[in-house]
Amino acid sequence: MRKPTKAVLTGAAVAALLVPCTVNAVANSGRGRPHQDTSATTLGALGKRAGLRIGTAVDTSALAEDASYRARAASEFTSVTPENVMKWDAVEGQRGRYDWSEADKLVDFARANGQLVRGHTLLWHNQLPGWLTTADLGADELRAVLRKHITDEARHFKGRIWQWDVVNEAFDDDGTLRDSIWLRKLGPGYIADAFRWAHEADPKAKLFINDYNIEGVNAKSTALLELVTRLREQHVPIDGVGIQGHLAVQYNAPHDIAANMKRFDDLGLETAITEADVRIPMPSDSTGQEAQAEGYDVLLRGCLLTRRCTDFTVWGFSDTYSWVPSTFEGEGAATSSTRTTGPSPPTGRSWTT
Ligand code: G3I
Repeated sequence: MRKPTKAVLTGAAVAALLVPCTVNAVANSGRGRPHQDTSATTLGALGKRAGLRIGTAVDTSALAEDASYRARAASEFTSVTPENVMKWDAVEGQRGRYDWSEADKLVDFARANGQLVRGHTLLWHNQLPGWLTTADLGADELRAVLRKHITDEARHFKGRIWQWDVVNEAFDDDGTLRDSIWLRKLGPGYIADAFRWAHEADPKAKLFINDYNIEGVNAKSTALLELVTRLREQHVPIDGVGIQGHLAVQYNAPHDIAANMKRFDDLGLETAITEADVRIPMPSDSTGQEAQAEGYDVLLRGCLLTRRCTDFTVWGFSDTYSWVPSTFEGEGAATSSTRTTGPSPPTGRSWTT
């Protein structure tokens, strides 16, 4: 784990990035009180004015080892998402043997800070344990293994998870279902089964399907809309759609996000921005940072303008711990922690650099 440096972002920089656009967006969205009240001291307090939870993904190693990170994770946000510790490889590294310790610590942290927890994620094609990916199980055994995993994990956290990302990244960008172990062995019905099993295990949790590149109206978001329409018609217990919101300044911001999100809202589904970050080609400069602020603003406005959008979660608030540099060579600063120019936050707090 990288050592924390001075560059660790405090909530001030996150607030400074998000507070201006949050204040404006909330004030103009019709969801907040009409006047622009900049007295809110945290992102969470601002979001509350619009009936929105503002959350962050949490790196639990940083939470344990970095006091500044821990303080800001506790104070700025009203929901948290485990970045990795509820994924299959983290909780069931050996078949049938669970280690909930890291995930339980985060749930306890959230409870101590009055935060809700977005569970992430019961079923994905990535971060699967080796015993599963190398076993080449037959369809019946794989289905039984999947049902047991979803049931065991949802039962373990029963009553402590607000929203579950039940199925993560089921689609390809062209709108076809992703070629995964799940689709190949179990067929497209694995998606409905996952939701039924999760609901059986924790009837009170809100159950979401989550994906990236579905911010605007495109083949992928339309295919997802068609799927969730069918699932609702089949009375599959699905409550919402998670729109990850991983943007990059070299691509246009999804200005049609509100129109897209309305399509899901019109079905009576909840929505959430679940993993917002906006990466910049490095070294970042004021142009990149302005484009980044626009990206966050577009995502936040899309949520604020959508009746049942309940949560706006950033995928981390410190570039020191961001997934971006190790994934996109030459890009970074996705959480704006290196921003040293631009307006000081209305709360008068200083920047960190
Ligand atoms: O736990 C091991 C550790 O034992 C080992 O020493 C270390 C070095 O190899 O790797 C550690 O695992 C890493 C894991 O994060 C936990 O830190 C993996 O290598 C690394 O690939 C993994 O990256 C995560 C990535 O998902 C995996 O695809 C990122 O932190 C996480 O931010 C990212 O999050 C995903 C969402 O879950 C779904 N949406 C996309 C988003 C970005 O990819």
